[in-house]
Amino acid sequence: MQDHPVIAIAIDGPAAAGKSTVAKRVAERLGFTYIDTGAMYRAVTLACIKNGLDPKDEAQAVSLLPSISIEFDSEGKTILCGEDVSKMIRQPIVSGNVSYIAAMKPIRLALVEMQRKMADSRSVVMDGRDIGTYVLPQAQVKIFQIASVETRAVRRYEENLEKGINTSLKEVEEDVRKRDYIDSHREFAPLKPAPDSVLIDTSFLSIEESVNAVLEVVKDKTGVTPKC
Ligand code: DC
Repeated sequence: MQDHPVIAIAIDGPAAAGKSTVAKRVAERLGFTYIDTGAMYRAVTLACIKNGLDPKDEAQAVSLLPSISIEFDSEGKTILCGEDVSKMIRQPIVSGNVSYIAAMKPIRLALVEMQRKMADSRSVVMDGRDIGTYVLPQAQVKIFQIASVETRAVRRYEENLEKGINTSLKEVEEDVRKRDYIDSHREFAPLKPAPDSVLIDTSFLSIEESVNAVLEVVKDKTGVTPKC
């Protein structure tokens, strides 16, 4: 039983700023549900590739929408049409194409509707690019999490190595820069801080320090404190 009303915490920011790690831990500490909206755009991208469709072609990508289902299981795994695709959606072929899919308005509208439903009746920590500005503008807490391009590239590179994904640091940095550009220049719901968001720069913060910085804002805005 929650002893507070339904609360939404929006964490937005550029690629590889550590949003998902921080969002997941904040959700655990507060007993909220974590929702990774980037994983949903990645799942659509993977579905295109698996079906031999071009992820740059809007008509082809949109034709897939009625036949795919995207869910998160109780462990937070991404389930695409019944299959656990959590690892597959992190492959470079998906990372390199997801910004095109995320720039398509009909795809965004369909996923945003699903995201709003997910936050309807339970407290969530939702991370993405447009959560505070568009998906949940009523969110009580809005964080815009940033870090320098160099820091983000090194973090993503190390994460990839751990997952056995072999991409050079230069390639990872190029991918981060390219996605920053596409995500913040697209016409519909581009990446930008909500006017009422709190900026947290994690370039020189550890994960624990970043989590605590978010929890401080949550306490300040809602009075809610961690359960553990
Ligand atoms: O956070 P990520 O790297 O997994 O996100 C994958 C892509 O999806 C990224 O290019 C931006 C896009 N995205 C978006 O446009 N809106 C969201 N709410 C979440 C992600």
